Amino acid sequence: MGYGRLGEHEPEHSQPEPLTDQPDYNTSPPRTTKRKLLFSFSFAFILASAVSVSLLVKFRTTGSGESEAAIRARVAVSQTCSITRYPTLCVKSLLDFPGSHAASKSQLAHITMNVTLQRFGKALYFSSAIRNIKMSSLVRSAYEDCLELLGDSVSHLSRSLNSAGSTQDVLTWLSAALTNQDTCTDGLAEVRGPVRSVMEERVRDLGKLVSNCLAIYAAASGVRNEDFSGVPIGNRRRMLSAGSSPGSVPRFPRWLSRRERVLLDTPVSSIKADIVVSKDGNGSVKTIAEAIKKAPEYGPRRTIIYVKAGR
Ligand SMILES: *[C@@H]1O[C@H](CO)[C@@H](O)[C@H](O)[C@H]1NC(C)=O
Ligand SMILES: *[C@@H]1O[C@H](CO)[C@@H](O)[C@H](O)[C@H]1NC(C)=O
Repeated sequence: MGYGRLGEHEPEHSQPEPLTDQPDYNTSPPRTTKRKLLFSFSFAFILASAVSVSLLVKFRTTGSGESEAAIRARVAVSQTCSITRYPTLCVKSLLDFPGSHAASKSQLAHITMNVTLQRFGKALYFSSAIRNIKMSSLVRSAYEDCLELLGDSVSHLSRSLNSAGSTQDVLTWLSAALTNQDTCTDGLAEVRGPVRSVMEERVRDLGKLVSNCLAIYAAASGVRNEDFSGVPIGNRRRMLSAGSSPGSVPRFPRWLSRRERVLLDTPVSSIKADIVVSKDGNGSVKTIAEAIKKAPEYGPRRTIIYVKAGR
């Protein structure tokens, strides 16, 4: 049954065929060569199949023997990560960690926190390295805020990792670290220059890692009443007081975000107002009440109402 297949692949097999068209006296010698050829072909075929079978067996054993544990670890890790908002980052950061291959669900939550803490520590360490370079006061303020926030997050994460509190405490600490990260990146987004790029590179993925931590920790501790699985980053902001150095009088209240503080520091002439209230009719509306009624038309973003002086 294998011969036909063999004949198809081997061009020599068809070679003797045209010989049958030759006169009769020429038939006997080709027949013996044909038989010889057939014999050697079948021998080669048996040899080849033996080799391929042994190769297959070898491949199977090395395949299953070496990677079965790795496959199981990958499955466990990707199941754990599937509930997070950034699963690819989650899988990568977990699989890179020694010991994750034989970890249970709660151990994976622990490892995620450990990985995240280590990344925050590294970011803080490398960010501090540029402390002495020259920066404008705005850049300096964003930079110092980030250092302070990173330090704060490191302490939150290490407390969480060392289980120094209840589940609710840990959720609160992780949420605080997430908010810190958003505040830092928000502050950086408002300045320009090389310090911003360096810092953005240093803190990249930190918020996503904390978000994943929250999701995995909440799931591992059976927290269901609140949804931590899809905690987005980028919409939380911690309110920092402007004058963080001791003794200085804060110019703005604590609840005012950085963006608002920057806005209030900007000269009126360079602010583009959405609505201008002017009694003389030169603005978009004449009264403040009208302006407030109009504000929702500008959507959920901040609406700037400029009230012109006058009476
Ligand atoms: C975190 O991971 C490191 C190894 O990278 C390990 O030495 C350390 O003990 C871990 N910390 C905790 C609290 O598990
Ligand atoms: C309002 O605009 C008009 C012309 O557009 C100008 O003559 C007038 O002085 C403006 N009024 C005020 C109070 O700026």
